[in-house]
Amino acid sequence: QKIVLAYSGGLDTSIILKWLKETYDAEIIAFTADIGQKDELDGLEAKALATGASKIYIDDLREEFAKDFIYPMFQAGALYEGQYLLGTSIARPLIAKRMVEIARKEGATAIAHGATGKGNDQVRFELTAAALAPELEVIAPWRLEAFRETFPGRAEMIAYAEKHGIPVTASAAKPYSTDRNLLHISFESGMLEDPWFDPSAESNKDMFVLSVDPEDAPDLAEYVELNFEQGNCVGLNGTRMEPLQVMERLNELGGKHGVGRVDMVENRFVGMKSRGVYETPGGTILFTAHRKMESLTMDREVMNLRDSLIARYAGLVYNGFWFAPERLALQALVTESQRNVTGTVRLKLYKGNVIGAGVQSPVSLYNPDIATMEADPTQAYNQGDAAGFIRLNALRLKVSSGVQQNAKQ
Ligand code: ARG
Ligand code: SIN
Repeated sequence: QKIVLAYSGGLDTSIILKWLKETYDAEIIAFTADIGQKDELDGLEAKALATGASKIYIDDLREEFAKDFIYPMFQAGALYEGQYLLGTSIARPLIAKRMVEIARKEGATAIAHGATGKGNDQVRFELTAAALAPELEVIAPWRLEAFRETFPGRAEMIAYAEKHGIPVTASAAKPYSTDRNLLHISFESGMLEDPWFDPSAESNKDMFVLSVDPEDAPDLAEYVELNFEQGNCVGLNGTRMEPLQVMERLNELGGKHGVGRVDMVENRFVGMKSRGVYETPGGTILFTAHRKMESLTMDREVMNLRDSLIARYAGLVYNGFWFAPERLALQALVTESQRNVTGTVRLKLYKGNVIGAGVQSPVSLYNPDIATMEADPTQAYNQGDAAGFIRLNALRLKVSSGVQQNAKQ
């Protein structure tokens, strides 16, 4: 039997690799998606092989992640529970998609992952696998009693790693769990489980990775211009760039100015509330710019319709339904809504803030001649018409109010 394991090189997936191999007497093919987690990839190949993998795929999926996952999601303006830009959620379907491709190519009968039985990630991996490769078996060791009995806590895992010569890295000793990619880094568990714990406290400064504390950001604001075509950022400051380059550059800029930190208690799909801290520097700039671009170029009713679907769309991404038919249907609407979202947004970055500093478009729907308080040269708007417009809209309010007054008498 061959099993493809989603492998990060961390303590959990290293232990799982060895445990699967022994328990199932199987050949383990490790797979790591490079989606922008940077130095976490160092030394991974040697480590996987030393831990017992027959081979390892380390696939650079960063371009695909930016272009086919992050960008379409940002067109939708997706935000979960008003705060979370879905950095982990959006990466899972891509990882699972590539994992099932490898399983098919290798003739593996099962895929395995290190997500716990209490979280969202298991759902995202497995719903994607179900949608793309229903024939594959999924092994989730954390949901198996035998595995949990062997590893009731960190101490047993570290002991097992030492016994089997699996190197335990510094990150295994960190008192919280992280997940990093091109869009964000997340922090959960450990001291963060107390929602009264202040992650921005001086004593916790070392936790953050992608951004400086806004208090330590430069005293001088920095401008950046985002160039949009049909709802996608196609360049910065007039220089054309691919989605991956845009994200990387915006992450640098946002990180430097302390942009994009979020601390929230969110509702997991599996029913519990969970505390998460996020750094999404580039995503926060892109999100703000995109909304400003739309303000100038998007039809009111189209915007209204799209906005009414944001929570729905975000929920689908969060809950792992990226490859579900309803997400694809929504995406078609979202993409159509972006047809005219073209132009340039100028922003000012300053101590954690993203401040609007101008917007322009060759297809702007904003007409100063119509909006002006001065004499309207176009005569497109007749102020006298507003009287009738208001009278008709007021009709039912007057009728209903009259009825209520009569009832009181
Ligand atoms: N709570 C976030 C989410 O559900 C982040 C999850 C982080 N995952 C992880 N394996 N550390 O999207
Ligand atoms: C996990 O439980 O594996 C991580 C957290 C999550 O998936 O929500």
